[in-house]
Amino acid sequence: MKNKVLFVVTIVVVFLLGLLASSIINRKSEAKYQYVPQVAIGENEPRNEEWGKNYPREYQSWLQTSETSFASYQGGAAMRDMLEEDPRLVVLFAGYGFSKDYNQGRGHYYAIEDIHNTLRTGGPKGEGDGPMPATCWTCKSPDVPRLMNEKGIAEFYNGKWADKGPEIVNPIGCADCHDPNNMKLRITRPALVEAFDAMGKDINKATHQEMRSLVCAQCHVEYYFDKKKSGIEGTPYLTFPWKNGMTVEAMEEYYDDIEFSDWTHQISKTPMLKAQHPGYETYLTGIHADRGVSCADCHMPYKSEGGQKFTDHHLQSPLNNIANSCQVCHRQEADKLRANVYERQMKATENRLKLEDLLVKAHIEAGKAWELGATEEQMKAILADIRHAQWRWDYAAASHGASFHSPVETARVLGGGLHIAQEARVKLARLLVTLGFNQEVPIPDIDSKEKAQAFIGLDMEKLIKEKEEFKTNLLPKWLEEAKAREDKMDSNEVSMTNK
Ligand code: HEC
Ligand code: HEC
Ligand code: HEC
Ligand code: HEC
Repeated sequence: MKNKVLFVVTIVVVFLLGLLASSIINRKSEAKYQYVPQVAIGENEPRNEEWGKNYPREYQSWLQTSETSFASYQGGAAMRDMLEEDPRLVVLFAGYGFSKDYNQGRGHYYAIEDIHNTLRTGGPKGEGDGPMPATCWTCKSPDVPRLMNEKGIAEFYNGKWADKGPEIVNPIGCADCHDPNNMKLRITRPALVEAFDAMGKDINKATHQEMRSLVCAQCHVEYYFDKKKSGIEGTPYLTFPWKNGMTVEAMEEYYDDIEFSDWTHQISKTPMLKAQHPGYETYLTGIHADRGVSCADCHMPYKSEGGQKFTDHHLQSPLNNIANSCQVCHRQEADKLRANVYERQMKATENRLKLEDLLVKAHIEAGKAWELGATEEQMKAILADIRHAQWRWDYAAASHGASFHSPVETARVLGGGLHIAQEARVKLARLLVTLGFNQEVPIPDIDSKEKAQAFIGLDMEKLIKEKEEFKTNLLPKWLEEAKAREDKMDSNEVSMTNK
């Protein structure tokens, strides 16, 4: 009897093993089929569709970054006009491009289209024209590493944004993160490598898991333009201010030491800092980073299709894919996890809005003090406070996702900002009295984007017209020129014998 059972069990096990083996072989051959190179990808190949010939699954999922339907409480892929949602921002950014136009980030697929369209890049009429430097292209395209290799790094940063329009046309893609020879993750942006050097670290020593975040840290970070760094006079050289560390205080100290400012505030005359998007820096202070969870773990989870497991290249809000993004580690229901995210975001928003209110008032009160004849000496400490308070606000607001990535740090930074903004307003109240003014300074009605833009005197009609002219006259020429150039690039078909 015992033997009979053993016999049956053995047969069943052998049968199952056979099934497993055949399934493994099937998958292997499928995998092999998937990765037989159809084309030889050149070292600087910027065209995502060329890479897509070899890696169709990754390419197809990458294409999904063009989807725009998902919206969450504060994120998602839909176009959101931040100035309309919160007109106070117009006043906070008065005198700076972000007061003209500020949309929330969308999928990588739109990186080129969106930089063409934003009013911040203006309406250049040709080479050498327009408000922005070439450096602004750096986080938009795999044409960037191509051009840097062809021309040199400083040469790439040199000149106007419009000068490189016909060269940069492919949106963020494969060549930004991958070595075409072995598909290993690679860093293509020199600013990140240089920032590691400045901290005395070697990025080549990063682990594989760290690389799954560092590829994002090429772009989702705080940066500024250093005009002295390159050999070429006045070239805005992209630099990450990490030498003293990555906290809000460490970067502030760095900027204060070199007396850097992104712009002078139009109303308060404060030498301002614009936090760009310190997403990587803030992520590092959160619990997930502490537990070794990478950006890719949540934003590029594994996906299965036809028995093949691969990395989902549909980079997006993980809330649109909680099953793969979160539930591989957390056992809670999707609704619960979403609620956890929203709760953190809403709590951060509560204090962020309070800080915004204080900052709007401080700028306008400082404007009043200047009007009443305040001296530079009297204003110095006040402006330093406004600078530091708005830097904290922006560090928390612009570091997309930080209120979830690192809620405690975000709360700390906003708390610090609230304190400093209050200090500024106490000093302003005293100064205003000294200047003979002891009433509340009236705050204008800025409850819509239009009203706020009119208050700071922006001629929106003119800006919009310039942009339209750029889109009808210059942009089509860029695209034609780019097409002609790319048509001449080989398609690099691999000879049939390799297959
Ligand atoms: C533990 C999971 C997790 C990790 C790790 C993580 N994120 Fe996020 N990220 C999220 C969630 C959740 C949101 C909020 C999405 C929303 O509000 O719709 C988010 C938001 C974002 C956003 C804003 C997206 C939007 O739709 O508004 C960006 C950009 C972002 N993360 C980039 C990164 C980068 C870069 C890293 C690594 C440095 C990273 N994330 C690490 C989960 C994660
Ligand atoms: C070459 C620069 C670059 C790299 C590398 C990069 N990003 Fe982005 N990312 C951007 C830009 C620019 C946008 C905004 C595009 C737009 O709005 O047109 C963006 C947008 C996003 C969004 C918002 C998409 C949405 O649907 O809301 C997320 C999330 C995101 N990136 C995550 C990541 C993660 C995670 C990584 C690393 C695996 C990464 N990015 C690597 C530049 C980059
Ligand atoms: C923002 C960075 C980024 C971009 C852009 C990107 N990838 Fe990836 N890719 C990754 C990451 C992260 C992984 C996971 C690598 C790992 O853990 O070893 C990956 C993995 C892969 C792999 C290995 C197999 C797999 O699915 O895990 C292939 C093949 C691949 N990507 C192809 C592409 C192609 C093709 C494109 C362009 C259409 C592309 N990638 C664009 C970051 C990127
Ligand atoms: C690779 C595993 C992994 C993934 C993926 C992951 N988490 Fe976590 N999460 C952790 C770990 C580990 C902790 C720390 C808790 C602990 O160690 O007990 C944590 C903590 C948390 C916390 C509590 C921390 C806090 O902020 O107070 C929340 C909330 C959370 N995760 C939500 C999410 C959501 C939402 C997603 C998807 C967007 C996600 N996690 C994706 C591993 C993961």
